[in-house]
Amino acid sequence: VRFPVLRPLLPTADKLLPYLQRIDDARWYTNFGPLLKEFEAGLAQHFALDDDQLVTCTNATLAMTQILRAFDILPDSLCVMPSWTFVATPASAIWGGLQPYFVDVDPVSWLIRPEDVREIAAKQRVGAVIVVSAFGAPLDVAVWEEFNRSTGIPVVIDAAAGFDGFARYGEQQSSVPVVISLHATKVSGIGEGAVVLTQDAALAKRVRQLGNFGFYGNRDAVVMGANTKMSEYVAASGLALLAEWPDRRQGWKELSVAFAAEVDATPELRCAPGFNEGWISSYGLVELPFWISAVTLSARLQACGVETRQWWSSGCHEENAYRHCPHGPLPETERLGDQVIGLPFWLGLTTENITEIFQIIREVIAEEMQQPVLRSKTP
Ligand SMILES: Cc1ncc(COP(=O)(O)O)c(C=O)c1O
Repeated sequence: VRFPVLRPLLPTADKLLPYLQRIDDARWYTNFGPLLKEFEAGLAQHFALDDDQLVTCTNATLAMTQILRAFDILPDSLCVMPSWTFVATPASAIWGGLQPYFVDVDPVSWLIRPEDVREIAAKQRVGAVIVVSAFGAPLDVAVWEEFNRSTGIPVVIDAAAGFDGFARYGEQQSSVPVVISLHATKVSGIGEGAVVLTQDAALAKRVRQLGNFGFYGNRDAVVMGANTKMSEYVAASGLALLAEWPDRRQGWKELSVAFAAEVDATPELRCAPGFNEGWISSYGLVELPFWISAVTLSARLQACGVETRQWWSSGCHEENAYRHCPHGPLPETERLGDQVIGLPFWLGLTTENITEIFQIIREVIAEEMQQPVLRSKTP
């Protein structure tokens, strides 16, 4: 493969070394050590929050489970979410004792809509909602704050790729918690990890308690907890990442500009919602016209050494593990599953590489255009 779809680049060993030496000196390896506290303080600054308004966690999947558990929802209630998401979203609901219910997304924003959730809640017991930010795009949290206030139904925002899109999250008043992943595939990659953002200090405390065996401040297991703490070694990687963040962000920004320019030069293609509009993430996606299938294009690109990925497959409702989950009509999810394709997008890819990849795509489009019958929706 000449161009893999993804090539993570985390802080290198030389950048980690000073932090690792601090761990050796302190002989403090986990359980809220000095590096973790410093990392959380740096994250709080990044998200414009106070230190007690965020909680680090081992990964975003478990972070969402802990939040759902912290809400104390009647077991087996429905957890409404998009099918157009990564399988970790429904998995977190099931681990949290709830039953996923998939709803369709808006064709433009790729987000679920509060009115659709209200309709379901009028007929069935909805215990929670997980709103998924589409590939890290910022969203209007106030809409869901209002939904939560008027229905009493807790909302969680799965912004796994939202490290940059949700930076300054603290500048708006909101009690809706947001989960950000620090997985290696993200711009915020530090290996495995996540951070929960919430301006509800009581919720933050409960999530921390649930991730530390139910302990908080002493060794009394007040609630049944798991262990989702972040170790000092991961915090070391986090501190190295924060130190490099301005340069890294600039690198992703340049990549986004080059990618968006190629999409603009190809009238048949569209970028993912909000792409290159002031925030960055690690996904270079295009939406194809209906007369070119992502499978056809992927095969052609693969033959040229260009790897692609259908990041969210055909939606979670098509995955074996979640086929049994109830859902509403999902026409937009099915369309996006067929028409959205992830292209190579990583630090180190040059503008020339991106142009070369889009050149192949334009050739395929030109060939497909020779078949007018396929381009017509009417028989
Ligand atoms: C939308 C979404 N939710 C959740 C996750 C899971 O994150 P983690 O790997 O930190 O558990 C991902 C991971 O890519 C994701 O894309």
